[in-house]
Amino acid sequence: MKIAASASDYRDLAQRRLPRFLFEYVDGGSYDEVTMRRNRADLRRIALRQRVLRDVSDVDLGVEIFGRRQAMPIALGPIGLAGLLARRGERQALAAAESAGIPFCLSTVSACSLGEVANAASTPFWFQLYMMRDRGFVDALLAEARERGCSALVFTVDMPLPGSRYRDYRSGLAGTPGLRGAARRFGQAMLRPDWAIDVGLMGRPHSLGNVAPLLGRKSGLDDFMAWMRSNFDPGITWRDLEYIRGAWTGPLVVKGILDAEDALAAAAIGADGIVVSNHGGRQLDGVPSTAEALPAIARAVEGRLRIFADGGVRSGLDVARMLCLGADCVLLGRAWAYALGAGGGAAVRHMLSLFEAALRVALSLTGVTRISGLDHDALVG
Ligand SMILES: Cc1cc2nc3c(=O)[nH]c(=O)nc-3n(C[C@H](O)[C@H](O)[C@H](O)COP(=O)(O)O)c2cc1C
Repeated sequence: MKIAASASDYRDLAQRRLPRFLFEYVDGGSYDEVTMRRNRADLRRIALRQRVLRDVSDVDLGVEIFGRRQAMPIALGPIGLAGLLARRGERQALAAAESAGIPFCLSTVSACSLGEVANAASTPFWFQLYMMRDRGFVDALLAEARERGCSALVFTVDMPLPGSRYRDYRSGLAGTPGLRGAARRFGQAMLRPDWAIDVGLMGRPHSLGNVAPLLGRKSGLDDFMAWMRSNFDPGITWRDLEYIRGAWTGPLVVKGILDAEDALAAAAIGADGIVVSNHGGRQLDGVPSTAEALPAIARAVEGRLRIFADGGVRSGLDVARMLCLGADCVLLGRAWAYALGAGGGAAVRHMLSLFEAALRVALSLTGVTRISGLDHDALVG
């Protein structure tokens, strides 16, 4: 097996291990994938300022977020259906995050339910909430997240309706309902025997998380995807954010902010954080990259709430770039999904150690010893 030295190596390995419909689901973006590509290209253009001879023998990557110490300013962001990438995958990713000393965020549309993940957790994790038409479902999830001791709620607001991902149509994940679609996916799974045994056979892939009780006996992947597509609520407004703020007393983070005015509005409603995000280029194609949007948003709300960012982050150096642009903490998306798909929790753990090492190099060679030193001064220009 190829040895992975980077998230990009894990992407290659995931492509070889996952059935096509799952790899394309993770790897793809919406429409022509312009924004998805921009996320990576713009971030990589950011030049760090090399400084030397500054005694970097005592580098500390730790940060405190919402009163909790993290080993580094990274969290595993929400990835829907991540549990299909490896057997009971969200549990494996949670364990990897715990051993790296960083938060794990469970998606509303996970393959493992909140309860299953909570039972496996030894430290509190974050929960990501989508606003669904079925408000009873939303209230029940909020109550469960509270009961299970989730330490932050990440409320995703950039999905009033789903953008179109062409690759899902081409692979048979979307647009081919019924037996024909199932047969295409089955055929793809048969070409990936390791995955077919690990997840398809042993992983109970038909018990799909928090949504399963609503689907009853119709709990196949098609039913799940159809439920998701028709249940995102296009009527969502700032009033819903006010409602969520009232219902959730813990730290509340609004995910999917790409505009300074929206960031200020979230702060005014009492959000504790925002995630500057375009959903990894999976929603409105053509919007700016997060690297482009982040500095102005950070200037507008700095000091009023915690600033998280994601989009195109594939190494510890990218994490450093996001921090210099104004983020307090960076969410990983595809990076951890690739590793999970390539080699389960052990691969996620290894990939996080690669991020840690590169982030340490970034601090050392920009001449700072604390994460707070990574600010605009650590950039060229
Ligand atoms: C396969 C996949 C599933 C995702 N599912 C969710 C989700 O359920 N909830 C959510 O808020 N964001 C979701 N996202 C968006 C990520 O949380 C994150 O914003 C994005 O992946 C960051 O971009 P990157 O993957 O380029 O790092 C998903 C992203 C991917 C790639």
